[in-house]
Amino acid sequence: MAKMWAGRSAGNTAALADELNSSIGVDCRMYKQDITGSIAHAKMLSKQGIIKEDEMEKIVAGLEEILSDIENGTLPIDMSAEDIHMFVEAELTERIGDCGKKVHTARSRNDQVALDVRMYLRDEADEFIGLLNKVIEAIATVAEKNSSVIMPGYTHLQRAQPILFSHHILAYAQMLLRDKARIIDARKRINVSPIGSCALAGTTYETDRDYEAELLGFSGVCLNSIDGVSDRDFCIEFLSDLSLIMMHISRMAEELVLWSSWEFKFIEFSDAYTTGSSIMPQKKNPDMAELIRGKTGRVYGDLTTLLTVFKGTPLAYNKDMQEDKEALFDGLDTTKLCLRILPDMLLTMKVNEKKMLAAAGEGFINATDLADYLVVKGMPFRDAYKISGKIVAECIEKGLILENYPLESYKAHSALFGEDLYEAINLKTCVEKRISKGGTSLASVMEQIQFIKENV
Ligand code: ARG
Repeated sequence: MAKMWAGRSAGNTAALADELNSSIGVDCRMYKQDITGSIAHAKMLSKQGIIKEDEMEKIVAGLEEILSDIENGTLPIDMSAEDIHMFVEAELTERIGDCGKKVHTARSRNDQVALDVRMYLRDEADEFIGLLNKVIEAIATVAEKNSSVIMPGYTHLQRAQPILFSHHILAYAQMLLRDKARIIDARKRINVSPIGSCALAGTTYETDRDYEAELLGFSGVCLNSIDGVSDRDFCIEFLSDLSLIMMHISRMAEELVLWSSWEFKFIEFSDAYTTGSSIMPQKKNPDMAELIRGKTGRVYGDLTTLLTVFKGTPLAYNKDMQEDKEALFDGLDTTKLCLRILPDMLLTMKVNEKKMLAAAGEGFINATDLADYLVVKGMPFRDAYKISGKIVAECIEKGLILENYPLESYKAHSALFGEDLYEAINLKTCVEKRISKGGTSLASVMEQIQFIKENV
């Protein structure tokens, strides 16, 4: 097929070369950004007297028509075109004649593609902020609905200290709030216009890059044309942010998988987010949570892909850079799907208060509080720690728990023990006494929920 870029070369490209070279299957989703960018470019060219006003009007009308025809389905994107930029330009020339060829004055596909990706990613950033807010809100709602449910808190996956379930899941809300802040910050660096960098060195035409950037809603322009067409750090930064989001929701998914097992039974997913087994009729598998966990590896892979593609490319543009979009879009789509499923999955899961409390009742998770009781009565912490440890060992031997270990036995370990110790080691007391800022008390949980309400 004759190429629009067939300048020096007279021979045709091999079919396999076309296949390898083609990116339209991936970049066709940027048709809107490409057309919007070209409209602004034509306007700038006309304002600067580089093309005539009536030419600009024809170009703009043609591009607007192409956009609406793609959107209403009357213009299918030709998958034999090399990329979306070539497709739009060829279609424009087909529709308005030679004048269409003028739109590519004072630009190159190198700055055009950088522009399209930045515009695309800018919109995606906004969508991600909304999606993260929805997940954070869902977590806050589940926390508020189950605010006083007590569960064992874990370290090393061993029961450690009593906590509120609400406090536990609100930890994820904090992580996702930081993820949102990272996206907001990344958006600032995305929102800088590369158009006008041209192939790499700028142009001899008297363009107005600031005007064009303003038309497209950018906060400024890339100050170095080589940087403008060469770097995709903003894509890599975004994939890093997505990787962190995936890492956070993967940890949450892992806990939900564990908690939905027969061994824990802390939660039960709605049927809408589980599957059965083709052979074992009793099964209710937490596939969706598992897939969130599983797809995390894929997003990390996308990040690694881009880091690797870019580590050895000399300045300025190299065709390797065409690979940026496949990894970026895959990371965006994958993370988005996981974030979209989470709110309803969380809001519809049953929280098994009894199971959590029962688990909290075993495992001596109030042993720290027993030691603290002695400390309040004047014993140095290390001694109190030792005595409490001995009592725990004795309880295990006798099949008792701290709550039903008799007072006389306590007194045999220390005269400081009195009747009030039972109140001190009561699980509810243990939780409520953790009033330090950010601790597990109900007051702290309420403060966290309030913070979320003010920040989504
Ligand atoms: N499809 C190309 C890409 O995504 C567009 C830029 C092509 N530039 C070039 N000099 N061949 O990177």
